[in-house]
Amino acid sequence: MIICNIDFGNGLLLAPMAGVSDVGFREVCSMLGADATYSEMLSARAMLYNSKKTELMTIISPHEKIKIGQIFGHESEVLAKAVKNPILAKYDILDINMGCPAPKIVKNGEGSALMKDIKLASQIISECVKNASVPVSVKFRLGFDKDISLDFGRMCEDAGASFVTLHARTSVQGYSGKADYEAIAKLKANLKIPVVGNGDVVDEISYSKMKQTGVDAVMIGRGAQGRPWIFKEVLGKEFTGNKYDIIHRHVDVLRKYYDEKWLTLYLRKHFLWYSSGTENSSKYRLELATSPSIERSLDLLKELFKK
Ligand SMILES: Cc1cc2nc3c(=O)[nH]c(=O)nc-3n(C[C@H](O)[C@H](O)[C@H](O)COP(=O)(O)O)c2cc1C
Repeated sequence: MIICNIDFGNGLLLAPMAGVSDVGFREVCSMLGADATYSEMLSARAMLYNSKKTELMTIISPHEKIKIGQIFGHESEVLAKAVKNPILAKYDILDINMGCPAPKIVKNGEGSALMKDIKLASQIISECVKNASVPVSVKFRLGFDKDISLDFGRMCEDAGASFVTLHARTSVQGYSGKADYEAIAKLKANLKIPVVGNGDVVDEISYSKMKQTGVDAVMIGRGAQGRPWIFKEVLGKEFTGNKYDIIHRHVDVLRKYYDEKWLTLYLRKHFLWYSSGTENSSKYRLELATSPSIERSLDLLKELFKK
């Protein structure tokens, strides 16, 4: 499947997930079948000040295939500058976040708040398209508190976006309720640019339901947490590798860039996700949640996945 002259292979995208889709996770998802991977959302304003934290978030793995950098902000001139920032030069596509529901983002008029100001959203997209040297896409929700996805998608197309991704819930819904696949099908049927469907794809069945909407590609977020092999499973391929080796690889990549103390705390959630659903995991989970070291967690996971 070709989107903006870029071959998306099977059309499987790992969602941008702040605090989750780190470089190690993106590497293992890519090795297991993700055709495209997104950075965590990057503040356009922070880039003006050469933020070290933002720079760290733009580290990529040589195993990532199509690399998409996601930016957020609410000032068109700041976003226009950001897309030209050399730290984004490594990305094949730049995506604008117009769907984040987090209160600290919304109160600044960013993320999903832009769905309440279509004129500003349009201005931001056209400025980014004008200034970026790579295709620009937009990720949004159904709307802020009601479904305006079709009008919003049309606006993105008119403003020059190369494709759009719809997470089919409103911002107010957060992550509750079910993603509205009918809205995704309607958007796909009415836009000329490609549409990526997102929301609640967790296995082969939900993937097939999402494909039935006619979307050009499918994005998976929470379904990949602790299960990077989902990118094989949705295509009906069994993952026959060693899960512990995958976890170890995720950790090894991160150890190149982050200090051990910070990583010990950060990785706990990933370790809990990896352990989840595995037979006998309950007796390991408490220890994983409070583990004093990565080595100890890895020993526990090795034992768990031996069974
Ligand atoms: C922990 C977490 C962090 C997220 N961070 C971002 C983000 O930085 N940018 C973004 O566009 N969406 C973000 N999302 C939304 C996901 O990209 C995706 O749209 C949403 O989880 C629905 O897809 P899913 O049902 O496959 O998880 C985040 C979601 C989660 C759970």
